Amino acid sequence: MKINFLDLKGFVSPHAINNSQVFSPPPEFQTLTEYIIKEMFDLHMQSSQTVWDRKMFDDELKREGSGFLICYSDGATRETDGGGSSPAGKFNAHDIDASMKFDLMSRIIGFFIFYNVLDEMHILDITVANEMQSKGIGSLMLDSVIKINAGRGIKDFFLEVRTSNLKAVNLYKKFGFKIFMLRKNYYEDNGEDALCMVKKL
Ligand SMILES: CC(C)(COP(=O)(O)OP(=O)(O)OC[C@H]1O[C@@H](n2cnc3c(N)ncnc32)[C@H](O)[C@@H]1OP(=O)(O)O)[C@@H](O)C(=O)NCCC(=O)NCCS
Repeated sequence: MKINFLDLKGFVSPHAINNSQVFSPPPEFQTLTEYIIKEMFDLHMQSSQTVWDRKMFDDELKREGSGFLICYSDGATRETDGGGSSPAGKFNAHDIDASMKFDLMSRIIGFFIFYNVLDEMHILDITVANEMQSKGIGSLMLDSVIKINAGRGIKDFFLEVRTSNLKAVNLYKKFGFKIFMLRKNYYEDNGEDALCMVKKL
């Protein structure tokens, strides 16, 4: 199963991801944007523990300095879980098909939202579809975003994560993020603490 990335806001250099081309939104951008936001919101409701409402996606898209990286596959794999090319079914850079166009049949399997201020990036959300988790998609997205933004002068990458979210904490640790603070009772829904993590280049 092949995957590709879409830079929704056009912030990302077309040559940055694995030296391959990132699809640029076509003239019917408005329609595609609406479609993508709807798909992202559905994914978010399915997979995320911290609930954003739909308006937060729209607002974030409009915010200056925000960035959205979408990971998608073609519509043919919509009904199947699919897997990457490694023996364990994990995805790696060889599974990225830069020629695969994004259209209204594409299946969004993950997304990454951040915003940049000066030389800092604040990671707001990274989500992979439930059935596609633990297959390397989160790693590919995080790796791409870090490389691209390092090239744009970002020096520090910040995020908050629930203490119980081991998958996410392990993902961030894999990429060199360190815990620098605990925010007590940070999450309103269950009073859970947040780990504040940073990666410094
Ligand atoms: C957190 C999340 C984005 C990770 O993406 P992913 O595609 O599942 O992650 P990967 O497959 O690239 O795995 C990255 C690392 O996470 C860790 N990991 C993956 N699956 C794991 C599991 N079931 N248990 C513990 N750690 C796990 C491993 O350290 C892994 O590295 P490795 O494969 O080299 O061992 C994804 O699981 C997700 O969408 N979760 C729900 C939303 C969420 O909680 N987002 C984070 C908000 S802060």
